[in-house]
Amino acid sequence: MISFKLNGKSAQFDGDPDTPLLWVIRDNQKRTGTKYGCGIAQCGACTVHVNGMSQRSCVTSISSVQGNEVTTIEGVNGKEAEAIQSAWMDIDVPQCGYCQSGQVMSAVALLKQIKQPTDKDIDGAMVGNVCRCATYQRIRQAIHQAAKNVEA
Ligand code: FES
Ligand code: FES
Repeated sequence: MISFKLNGKSAQFDGDPDTPLLWVIRDNQKRTGTKYGCGIAQCGACTVHVNGMSQRSCVTSISSVQGNEVTTIEGVNGKEAEAIQSAWMDIDVPQCGYCQSGQVMSAVALLKQIKQPTDKDIDGAMVGNVCRCATYQRIRQAIHQAAKNVEA
C-alpha cells in the first residue's frame, strides 16, 4: 500500500507501484484537472507539485511519492496561486485550455521560487509546457502581472 497526501488529504494506492502518478490522480483519485498529453515528459500537460516542486506526473511512479505531498490544479493554493489564477482570468490566457492546468502549476512553482521573474526566467521555467494554441505571450504577461500583484 502506498500512502501519500493529495491536496492536503491522505490518499492511498494499492496497485502496481510502477503505476504513473498521473493515472493514480486521474483514474484512482478522480481528479481530472491534470491532463495527459505525451506520456514522455515532453509537453507539461500533466504537471503537478510534489513537495511544492513542479513534476511531470506521467513519468513519476506512484512508489516514488510515498509519504510526499502531491498538489494538483484542484488543490493549489496560497498567494502565488491566487495571483496566477486571477491574472490568467484577467488576461484571458487560455484558448482550448488543454495545456493550461500544467501551465498554471509551472507558473505557481516559478513565482514561489522567483518573486519578480524576468522574461528569461519565465521562458526557462515554462519551456517544458507546450501550448498547441500558442498562448505564450499571454502566459508571460500574466506571470508578470501576478508577480506585481503578489508584491503589492
Ligand atoms: S503528459 Fe506528462 S509531460 Fe506530457
Ligand atoms: S490553450 Fe490550447 S493547448 Fe494551450
